[in-house]
Amino acid sequence: MAYLEIINACVHYPVRNTWGTTGEFVRAVDDVSLSLEKGSILGLVGESGCGKSTLSRAIMQLQPLTSGSIILNGVNLSSLPPREIRRRRTDFQMVFQDPYASLNPRMSIFSTLAEALEQREKLKKAAREDAVAELMQRVGLSPEHMYKYPHEFSGGQRQRIAIARAIAPKPALLLADEPVSALDVSIQSQILNLLTDLTQELGISMLFISHDLSVVHYIADNIAVMQRGKIVEYGTADAVFNHPQHQYTQTLLAAIP
Ligand SMILES: Nc1ncnc2c1ncn2[C@@H]1O[C@H](COP(=O)(O)OP(=O)(O)OP(=O)(O)O)[C@@H](O)[C@H]1O
Ligand SMILES: [Mg+2]
Repeated sequence: MAYLEIINACVHYPVRNTWGTTGEFVRAVDDVSLSLEKGSILGLVGESGCGKSTLSRAIMQLQPLTSGSIILNGVNLSSLPPREIRRRRTDFQMVFQDPYASLNPRMSIFSTLAEALEQREKLKKAAREDAVAELMQRVGLSPEHMYKYPHEFSGGQRQRIAIARAIAPKPALLLADEPVSALDVSIQSQILNLLTDLTQELGISMLFISHDLSVVHYIADNIAVMQRGKIVEYGTADAVFNHPQHQYTQTLLAAIP
């Protein structure tokens, strides 16, 4: 069964100028239907401004849909009261492009991760350190650094911290919005491998967003290609990468160095 189903989703932003709205709309997400199986990785690829982040914010219920529905584990999220959505928010977690901006610079890694773990269950004080250490090991970080602050880590390590924070509340769905775009190429594959391993081990489904088709092909089971708010191509990662049907996908493929 599909864990996440997006049905005819639209997000249309009103166009504003100095005097207010113009009556026109930007169709950032335009009649998108997609589904994501439990434990699988769906890659969403498209150039800047095509609507990828808007779609992921809509799934997170951070951006209301103009029309359509998001069904998570058989439940239509738009039918739920805000309190229920807040309660379910721990089920879906995000990883962003810039781990430095998304981590609180004044919180040690210990505090950040302990707080994330406690979204799911309250821990006894004595158990916190062990739980944080285990989490750090899981993402390839040495627990001896748990009382350090974000600025003391490299970009790749910071992204590992952001990933640890995301998996801490045991989510069922991970939304990763360009999680490796800010990293050196040599570090990118390490983070991609970590994300693949974790989704497999923990049975998490993941929507993986990137503008880079080769990155998406590397990690995803299925690929959806987005252009100006619409899904123009969808298929298994190998089919889309090796035999692209849509001209836009061919252009994305040609853009890979
Ligand atoms: N809050 C907003 N209000 C109005 N328009 C918006 C808003 N957020 C995004 N847009 C517009 O919606 C469209 C899609 O933007 P979005 O950020 O979803 O694209 P993206 O694919 O994530 O791009 P990028 O690869 O640069 O992150 C763009 O035209 C953008 O200018
Ligand atoms: Mg974006």
